Amino acid sequence: MSTFPSGIDPDKFDAELHRLERVSRFPEMPRNLFDEGPHLITTPELPWGDAVREQSVEAYRRFIHGETWITGGGAREMEAEVVGWLGGLLGAERPAGFITSGGSESNMCAILTAKQRAGRRGGSVVFPDNGHYSLHKLCRMFDLDPIVVPAPEGRLDLVDPEAVEAAVRPDTIALIATAGTWAYGSVDPVGAFGAIAERHGLYLHVDGAFGGFILPFLERSGYDATIPAWDFRVPGVCSISADLHKNGMAPPPAGTLLFRDESLLASAKEICPPNGTMSGTRGTGPIAGAWAMVKLLGEPGYTAVSLKSMAMRDELVEGVRGIEGLEVHPGSRINMTLIHSTTLDLRPAAGELRRRGWMFAARAVPGPVSLVVVPMPHNDGQTSAFLSDLRACADTAPPLDGPGAEKSGESVSGYGF
Ligand SMILES: Cc1ncc(COP(=O)(O)O)c(C=O)c1O
Repeated sequence: MSTFPSGIDPDKFDAELHRLERVSRFPEMPRNLFDEGPHLITTPELPWGDAVREQSVEAYRRFIHGETWITGGGAREMEAEVVGWLGGLLGAERPAGFITSGGSESNMCAILTAKQRAGRRGGSVVFPDNGHYSLHKLCRMFDLDPIVVPAPEGRLDLVDPEAVEAAVRPDTIALIATAGTWAYGSVDPVGAFGAIAERHGLYLHVDGAFGGFILPFLERSGYDATIPAWDFRVPGVCSISADLHKNGMAPPPAGTLLFRDESLLASAKEICPPNGTMSGTRGTGPIAGAWAMVKLLGEPGYTAVSLKSMAMRDELVEGVRGIEGLEVHPGSRINMTLIHSTTLDLRPAAGELRRRGWMFAARAVPGPVSLVVVPMPHNDGQTSAFLSDLRACADTAPPLDGPGAEKSGESVSGYGF
């Protein structure tokens, strides 16, 4: 049993803090290909990267002792601005909402709002098999049945709207679609979800935790004119989550939950007083850090960041396609890349890549293991080194016994394996 600290001298404390920073692998962040890291750094395409990140961190630091109660005046203004800016960008005329601790909390608050509007206990929620594990978690927490719609032909980036509609039960309270799925990067057919929601009088939430801060900029810059409408432009969409601490580039923890209008926020506040979030006290540091990031980057900054992430993604995809036995899962519209094989057992390769210092997520679907790599600006300059290690590891990978089929039904998305 550890004893409670008796106090330590400042030098020893600093050494201990340094040790813990190294344990957390902070100095190796450029090789963190998971969606963690300082995200925004200076690169040739983003010459202001470090300066903007430092200003966001400075805003976080200056608001670090604030709470959203008595000293929350400034943070509440910042929060309202972020909600207004992003909600408007996503096509809402009168957006309302709040800043959360991230995508899981945003999904929870959205479904609690749906529950409040439905005015019933229990019930069910329909979402495709590609939904994030937080959807299963919230169903368990709120005593709702998850009705998981299987992917057509085992392709988890695809969704069959007819199957979604067929899954709706008399007790269904909400549909959830995803814009930027973990770990496929696909965008569900939100237009079809909207029509189903309207036909059946259901609440529709769009989980844009990953896609919310990149899809609008890829669309509006003309990088990809084929992205289907997935936001408030689609009738029937009630709420959207978009994470500031992912492609929003802000320091964690910070996500958003945006409602189409004030009446939905009012329902959220009824079930989760006083502000609609799951929390009581909220620290204002993350709100200030996120506000600063959005205000400083603006549309031109996010467009440059999004294009940089996609250029790195494209370089990665091209490199992976040149490695025998490896495939990139089809269907990604964002900087999410799922690397897998139908002929090789990549488990030893994934282990060796980690021993070589690369950080990434690995999951059992498609089996037996696939690697999730999310290029972000802080990975600048790492792609060719990663590809050369990936090639070396794939070259020694044993053949797969039997097909490495994509199975449906993984209810908890693993970040390891
Ligand atoms: C699509 C999606 N939704 C929700 C989440 C949960 O976000 P958080 O970990 O910030 O709670 C994630 C996290 O990766 C995600 O990819």
